[in-house]
Amino acid sequence: MDRKELIRQMKQQVGIAAAQRVQDGMIVGLGTGSTAAFAISELGRRQREEGLKILGVPTSFSAAVQAKQEGLELRTFDQIDQIDLAIDGADEVDPHKNLIKGGGAAHTLEKIVDGWADTFLVVVDESKLVEHLGAFPLPVEVLPVAVYAVMEQLTKLGGIPQIRLGVKKDGPVITDHGNFVLDVQFPNIPDPPKLEQTINNLPGVLENGLFVNLADEILIGRLQGETIEIISQV
Ligand code: 5RP
Repeated sequence: MDRKELIRQMKQQVGIAAAQRVQDGMIVGLGTGSTAAFAISELGRRQREEGLKILGVPTSFSAAVQAKQEGLELRTFDQIDQIDLAIDGADEVDPHKNLIKGGGAAHTLEKIVDGWADTFLVVVDESKLVEHLGAFPLPVEVLPVAVYAVMEQLTKLGGIPQIRLGVKKDGPVITDHGNFVLDVQFPNIPDPPKLEQTINNLPGVLENGLFVNLADEILIGRLQGETIEIISQV
């Protein structure tokens, strides 16, 4: 099996394992990305085949579209008082359960939903585990009018910002909220909490992809010998 297919299978198994944690009647934050998508599919299957009844709170337009296709009932923030469990992927996970997210440009709403949930369960394959965050360029959602001012400030902080460009569309990626995303390469991120706060204090920044002290548990799909196993980091 090639590496790409192996990672796909790890994502699938960890997504399914997370969805197995969901109990009847829960309000569930529905994450964005290919790993979270496997969890959403499994929730749909459980609803159809096991009669599981849940309400979903999507973290992006794409999560909402998939959840609707699966027949899941959705809610917005004004319709709920709490979220029981959020299941979401990540681009990097460090040993302190700090994350980089936003590979799908959804980190602003993801941080609201995941942060609001009583339990935030992260689903990743083992390739996402790192000793130190920062090899993955940090996504920063920015108001379009402020993009050059923010790029200058991020450069002063030691980062190399690049406007994320569309695929099959000339020009910038536009987020679900109508903004741009900067992908910022830092040489290293020695103090994730400080950098998260510092970047969010720049005028024009909506949110950055550092998720510090938010994750309750990391479910990891990893290869053990010839088989994939799911392990938990709490
Ligand atoms: C989207 C995200 C995703 O959760 C992250 O990019 C991981 O994606 P995948 O599960 O496809 O590897 O943060 O904004």
